Amino acid sequence: MPITALDIGSQSIKIVVAKDSKHQQIIKAIETPNKLGLVIPKTDQEAMQMAEVIANLFHDYKLEQTDVRLSLPEQIVTSKVIEVPYLSDAELASAIGWQAEQNIPIPKNDLSLQYQVIQKPEKKTPNSTMKVLLVGSRKSIIERINNIFLNIGIEATLLETQIFSVIRSLDIESSDPETIIVQMGASGNDIAVTANGMFEFVFNSKTGSNLIDAAIAQSFNLDLKQAAEYKINYGLDPTQLEGKLALLINPIIDNLLIDLQKTMRFFNQNKPEQKIKRIVLSGGPAALKGLVEKMSQSLGVEVLLAAPFAKAKGLIPEQNHVSFSVCMGLIARIL
Ligand SMILES: Nc1ncnc2c1ncn2[C@@H]1O[C@H](COP(=O)(O)OP(=O)(O)OP(=O)(O)O)[C@@H](O)[C@H]1O
Ligand SMILES: [Mg+2]
Repeated sequence: MPITALDIGSQSIKIVVAKDSKHQQIIKAIETPNKLGLVIPKTDQEAMQMAEVIANLFHDYKLEQTDVRLSLPEQIVTSKVIEVPYLSDAELASAIGWQAEQNIPIPKNDLSLQYQVIQKPEKKTPNSTMKVLLVGSRKSIIERINNIFLNIGIEATLLETQIFSVIRSLDIESSDPETIIVQMGASGNDIAVTANGMFEFVFNSKTGSNLIDAAIAQSFNLDLKQAAEYKINYGLDPTQLEGKLALLINPIIDNLLIDLQKTMRFFNQNKPEQKIKRIVLSGGPAALKGLVEKMSQSLGVEVLLAAPFAKAKGLIPEQNHVSFSVCMGLIARIL
C-alpha cells in the first residue's frame, strides 16, 4: 500500500509518497510553501484553515490516503532516555507512570506516554540497570492534529516526533561513530545525539533560519522573501556582495556553533570515554553555502549533509534532498 508522509514546517510543507517502507520506491516528492505559516493550530479557526490547506494538497497533488504519516515538532514532545534498575516487563509497566512524572514536564492528565526498552542486560544481577526511552506528548495537541485530518476523512496511521524520523532516515548502525544530528528549520533546530547506534538525547535550539532572513531584510532593506533569496544564492561566500552578507549571517551561525560545542561537552561529561566524532546536518537551512566547511573548521569534526534518498529508487527529487529527511524516516518505519 502506498505511504504518504507529511512534514508540515512553518515555512514549507514537505510530502513524499512511496510504494512501501522496505523498497523506498518514490512516487512523488513535493516541497511547497506553508502559506498559513502554522504548524500547530491554536484555535478552532486555525484548525479549520489548516484542514482546508491540507485537503487542497491531497486534491491538487492527488495524494494517496491509505497510509498517511505525520511528523510532530519537537516542541510538543519530550524525549528522554532514563536508566532504571533491571525490571521485568510487568514491573516496568507499573513503574513507568512514576518515572514519567519525574522526567517529563507535561501534566499527567494531558500526557500521552510511549516507552521503549533500548538497552537491557541478558540477565539480572544485583546492580544491573537498563535504559528506557520515554516519549511524552501533549494529548490535547495530538488530538487536535488528528481531528484536522479526521475532518477531511483521513485517519493518520502514524504521528512521530520529527527527530526520530530523521534518525531513522540516516540508517544509523551500532558501529557508527558518536554523532550529533541537527534537524534545522526556519523556526529552530533540533540537536540530537546518537552513540552506539542509539538515541541519547535531544534539545531544541531557537537559532532557526528565520533569524538570518530577518537580519538580511533589515540590513539590506528587503522583504523576507528577497532576503531568503540572497541567503540561498550567496550564503557564507565572502567574495559575494563585498562579504556583507557573510558578515550578517556569521554571528547567527556562531550561535549554533556554541550550542553544538555545549552538546559535545555535555555528551563527553556523561560519557568520558566517548567523544562526538561527526555531525550530520538535515533540513532546508542545512544547504546554506559554506556551512559544512565553516562548521567542520571551527568544531574540528567531520560534518556531513544528510542523504535521505541514499537507499531510495524511483522518482527521487533532483535537488534539496536535505529537506526530505523527516518524510523519508516516516516512510522507512515498518508498521
Ligand atoms: N540552499 C539553501 N541555502 C540556505 N537556506 C536554505 C536553502 N534552501 C532552503 N533554505 C532555507 O530553509 C528554510 C526552510 O527549511 P525547512 O523547510 O526545513 O523549514 P521548515 O520545516 O518549514 O521550518 P520548521 O521546521 O522550523 O518549522 C527557509 O528559511 C529557507 O530559506
Ligand atoms: Mg521542519
